[in-house]
Amino acid sequence: MDKDNYIVGIETSCDETAVAIVKNGTEIISNVVASQIESHKRFGGVVPEIASRHHVEQMTVVLEEAFEQVAITWDEIDAIAVTEGPGLVGALLIGVNSAKAVAFAKQKPLIGVHHIAGHIYANRFEQEFQFPLLALVVSGGHTELVLMKEHGHFEVIGETRDDAAGEAYDKVARMLDLPYPGGPQIDRLASIGSESISFPRAWLEDGSYDFSFSGLKSSVINTIHNAKQRGEELKREDIAASFQASVVEVLTEKTFKAAKQYDVKQVIVAGGVAANKGLRGAIQQCFSNTGIPLSIPPLNLCTDNAAMIAAAGTISYEQGKRSGLDLNANPSLVLS
Ligand code: KG4
Ligand code: ZN
Repeated sequence: MDKDNYIVGIETSCDETAVAIVKNGTEIISNVVASQIESHKRFGGVVPEIASRHHVEQMTVVLEEAFEQVAITWDEIDAIAVTEGPGLVGALLIGVNSAKAVAFAKQKPLIGVHHIAGHIYANRFEQEFQFPLLALVVSGGHTELVLMKEHGHFEVIGETRDDAAGEAYDKVARMLDLPYPGGPQIDRLASIGSESISFPRAWLEDGSYDFSFSGLKSSVINTIHNAKQRGEELKREDIAASFQASVVEVLTEKTFKAAKQYDVKQVIVAGGVAANKGLRGAIQQCFSNTGIPLSIPPLNLCTDNAAMIAAAGTISYEQGKRSGLDLNANPSLVLS
């Protein structure tokens, strides 16, 4: 590489206001995340209007903080990358407009980034990418198997037909009266429970890499209701462990099959559910003797952050892609 580049990342697609500075797409200089979880907890989920208001309040504070304890100044910044979608439109708009304002004021190029590309590129802080690679993306809004033959190109080979994995975790957590976000709560309970309840696995048609979690979710509801009607008390940790076993088995098996079929050189796991201990353990074990390198980000880079947006933005920057100041938030942006 001729010259080091420094990219600022901005992420506001859901309930984290985040700004980061990344060097050459692989080194985190600063990474600030202001979480809104406490504000949304009492509603049992993210309230879009509240999320937007918090982003407005937090953006300048987080932006300043990202530059505070580092030796980098705006003069050295090469471009500003921002999540343009998918996500909550009101929340995305705050990030996009902030990025546009700063890009204009500081006279820096602007780069729109797909949120899922960001999750995938969080792995570049762990390992250099080796193509073709397969990414299992599991977040609150997405569950996808993505094939990448080169930087910046994404082919979705399978996706959920209903709920995303994280969404299923959050819904089951609610049934168990656990606080938002439910994923980490179920993960914790699952580690002390037993997989004593047999929940279904949605394999779908032969050879399909799509996913489905709505049947599993209904099965958990029915099991809880039926037990209640019989006056039986099911242990929450056993429900959590059994539910998690179903999710993890399907995610791991389908990833393994696809990795073999597409003869990939690397497998990466991305998104909030990649923080799940059960999934991390199962997928590590599954790939341990295959010779295929596996990358899973550390927990703070699995959930939403801006370092991943800067990392994905770095690739676009190096490929000469730029967005205009007419960049708009796109809540249903497609990964391509
Ligand atoms: O990627 P992310 O931070 O935001 C989206 O882009 O959606 O993912 C958030 C999702 C939530 O559904 C949350 O419950 C889930 O990730 N999650 C987990 C864990 N940590 C976060 N799910 C299972 N186990 C975890 N440890
Ligand atoms: Zn996300």
